[in-house]
Amino acid sequence: MRNVTADTITEAVLQTIADTTEPRLRRIMTSLISHLHAFAREVDLTPEEWMAAIEFLVRVGEATKTERNEFILASDTLGISALVDLSHNRASGGATTSSLLGPFYINGERMQPLEVGGDLIGDNDGEPVVVAGRVTTPQGAPIAGACLEIWQNAANGLYESEDPEHGPGNLRCKMLTDDEGRYRFTTIKPIAYTVPYDGPVGTMLQALGRHAWRPAHIHFRISAAGYHPLITELFVADDAHIDTDAVFGVREPLLVDFRRIESAEEAAAYGVTEGYALVTYDFGLQPVA
Ligand code: BEZ
Ligand code: FE
Repeated sequence: MRNVTADTITEAVLQTIADTTEPRLRRIMTSLISHLHAFAREVDLTPEEWMAAIEFLVRVGEATKTERNEFILASDTLGISALVDLSHNRASGGATTSSLLGPFYINGERMQPLEVGGDLIGDNDGEPVVVAGRVTTPQGAPIAGACLEIWQNAANGLYESEDPEHGPGNLRCKMLTDDEGRYRFTTIKPIAYTVPYDGPVGTMLQALGRHAWRPAHIHFRISAAGYHPLITELFVADDAHIDTDAVFGVREPLLVDFRRIESAEEAAAYGVTEGYALVTYDFGLQPVA
C-alpha cells in the first residue's frame, strides 16, 4: 500500500473492509466510503476545506446536550432526517404518516403524566385550544392504553428546555388513551419559531442564505404494545411557513385546522368553555407484522 495514489486510495480502503462479516455493516460502510471519496473528488476538496468540515463536526458535538441535539439539527436542516423518515414511512391504509422527532424530544421525568382531559396550559399565555381524538388500528379499532408523549413550544416560541423562564416539563406530557382509545388535553396554540441558530448549524444556515423558520406544530410520539411507535407532528394548516419548513417535516395529512368552538354544547362535550379553539385528530398505528 506504500504506492497508494489519489486514483487507488478508494479501492485500498474498500479492501480493508472486504472481510467484514456483518453484511449490512459492510454494505453501508462500502457505500459511505465510496460516496465520500467521490464527493471529495467531485468538488476537488482542499485540506483546509476538509479541516473546516471536521471543525464543524467538533462544534456540533460540543453544542450537543441532553436538552438540545445539534447532530439531529444538522441532520434535519440537511434533509437527511426527512429522507430517512419518508423512505421508511409506515403510513398506509389508515396508519398516520410520520414526521420528524426534532432535537427537543426528552423522554423520562420531564414528561408530566396527564389524565385524558387534562390541562397543559398551566400559567402559559396564548390562545387556548383543546386537542382531542383517538388512537386506533389502521382499520379504526380503538387502541386502549396507548401512550402519547406530547411536546410543543410556548408563546415566546421556545421549548421549555431552551427557556429558563419555564419550569421543567412545561408544555410536555404523556397520556394514556382510555378504553375507547381516546385522548384529550387543553393547551395553547403553538406558534411558528426558528430552529436554534446560535450554534454551528445556525452558522451554516446563515452562510447558505437559508432561514430557520418552522411552521407552528405540536409533536407526538405514540406507542402501544404490538404496534410500531409513531413519531409525528400536527401542523397549523394556515401557518405562513407551512411550505417553507426549514427542516422539511410538513406532510399534507398532518395539517390541522384550529377552528373556533361553535356552541356551549360543543364546548361542554370537550370539557371546555366557548373561548377555546378545537383540533380533532385520530392517529392510526401500524401493527408489528
Ligand atoms: C422541532 O420541531 O422541535 C425541530 C425539528 C427539527 C429541528 C429543530 C426543531
Ligand atoms: Fe418542534
